[in-house]
Amino acid sequence: MLRILLFFALVPELLGAVSPEFAQRREKLRKEETDGIVVLFGAKESEDLHFGFFQENNFLYLTGWEEPGAILVLTPEPDKGDPALVEKARLPREILFLPQRVPSQEKWTGRKLGPSDANVAATTGFTVVMPAEQFESKLRSLLEMYQSVYALPGEATAAIARLAPLRTVLDAAAPIARLRMEKSDAEISAIQRATDASIEAHRAAWRIMKPGEFEYEIAAVMTGSYMMDGCRRSAYAPIVGSGPNSTTLHYSRNSRRMDAGEVVVMDVAAECGNYASDITRTVPANGHFTARQREIYEIVLGAQRAAIAAVKPGMTIGKKTPDSLYKIAYDYIDTHGKDLHGESLGKYFVHGLSHHVGLDVHDASDTRDPLKAGMVITVEPGIYIPEENIGIRIEDVVLVTEKGAKVLSGALPADPDEIERALAQRK
Ligand code: GLY
Ligand code: MN
Ligand code: MN
Repeated sequence: MLRILLFFALVPELLGAVSPEFAQRREKLRKEETDGIVVLFGAKESEDLHFGFFQENNFLYLTGWEEPGAILVLTPEPDKGDPALVEKARLPREILFLPQRVPSQEKWTGRKLGPSDANVAATTGFTVVMPAEQFESKLRSLLEMYQSVYALPGEATAAIARLAPLRTVLDAAAPIARLRMEKSDAEISAIQRATDASIEAHRAAWRIMKPGEFEYEIAAVMTGSYMMDGCRRSAYAPIVGSGPNSTTLHYSRNSRRMDAGEVVVMDVAAECGNYASDITRTVPANGHFTARQREIYEIVLGAQRAAIAAVKPGMTIGKKTPDSLYKIAYDYIDTHGKDLHGESLGKYFVHGLSHHVGLDVHDASDTRDPLKAGMVITVEPGIYIPEENIGIRIEDVVLVTEKGAKVLSGALPADPDEIERALAQRK
C-alpha cells in the first residue's frame, strides 16, 4: 500500500487526460508532421467479456483519454510559406470527438462523458470537443486544405481512404513510435512501478516453488501479488514453463505439474498505470540447479551481463544492425559451452535480445534506430535445448542513460547462488 501511495505522489502528471504531458506530445507530433492532418480512432467498446475496455495505446499516448469511441484530429502547424496561411491558422489545432451518451448502454458499462457535458474541456484537456457524428463533415472541410492524412494502419486507414478517396493516406504509426521510444520521467517512474510490483511477484513465486506444484499455481500467486499491489492486469499472458515447457518460448498453458530436477522459466510481469514491465527468471523447481543446468544458466547470465555492460546511446538492438547488442550476446553464447553433440550453443538462442517496453510490453519502436538516453528496453538472452529439457531465459528491464544503463529490475537476483539461497528460505 505504501508503495502505491508513493507512486501516486511521484508521478501525478500521468494521471488523467489533463496532464500537460499529453498536450506536449500532441504538439510535438503536429510540429513534426507538417504535411497532413493526423486522425486517430480510439478503441470502441465491445461485447467481448474476456477483457474489459482498454484504450488503443497510440491514442492513449497522445490523449490520456480512457473512454471508448473517441476520435482525435490534429492539424499541423501552418507552414509560413503556405499561401493559405491565414485560413489555416484559424483552424483548431486539436479536436477531440466524443460519442453521445447512450443511457441504455451506460447501465452496462457505466457513465461516460458526453460531448455536451459542461465540464468536457476541463476533463479532457481539449479546448475543442465535438460530437463524434460531426467527425466526417469536419474531416471533409479540413481536407479542402490538406492533401494528406496520417492514420494507423488497418481499419483506420481503410476508413480514411473511404472518406477521402482522393487524398494520400500516410502511416501515423512510425512518427508516433519515434515519440514513444523516448520515455519521459513520468513514464520511467511508471515502468519502475510496474517493475517493482513484478519483482515482488517473482519473490512470491520463489516462496512457494516446489516439485509437485502446478505451473498455474505459480502463475496464480504472481498475478495475485501484483493485482493486490494495485496493478490492473498482466503485461502479457504469464509464462510458467517447467522441464520440457521451459524450451517453448511463449508457453502459456501453465498446466503441467513440476518435477524435482527441472528448471522453471517464469516470464511474468505486471501492467500498472497503463505501463508494462517484462521480467524473466529461471529457477530450479527443487531449489538446486544440476551441474548441467548451472553451466547453461551461467552462459546465459554471462551473455546478459556482457550485453548490459555495452548498453549506451548509439548501440542498436537489431540482429543485423551496426553496434548490435544482440551480436554481443549471441557471440558470447556461441563461444561458451557445447551441446551433447559437441556443437556450439548459438543455434539455441532462437529469439531477439531486446525490445522496447512502455505502454505495450513490445512497445512501439524502430529497431534500426540507435538507442538514446531515456529509452527503456529488455535484455533477454536465452538458451533452449529441447533434447535436454533445459530452457533458460534471464530478462531484465533496462533504462538507457547518458553514459550507460540502469537495470530497473536489478533488485531481483539473477545470480544462481543468490537464487538458490532465496529458494532455501522457502517454508
Ligand atoms: N514476455 C514476452 C517477451 O519477453 O517478449
Ligand atoms: Mn521481453
Ligand atoms: Mn518476457
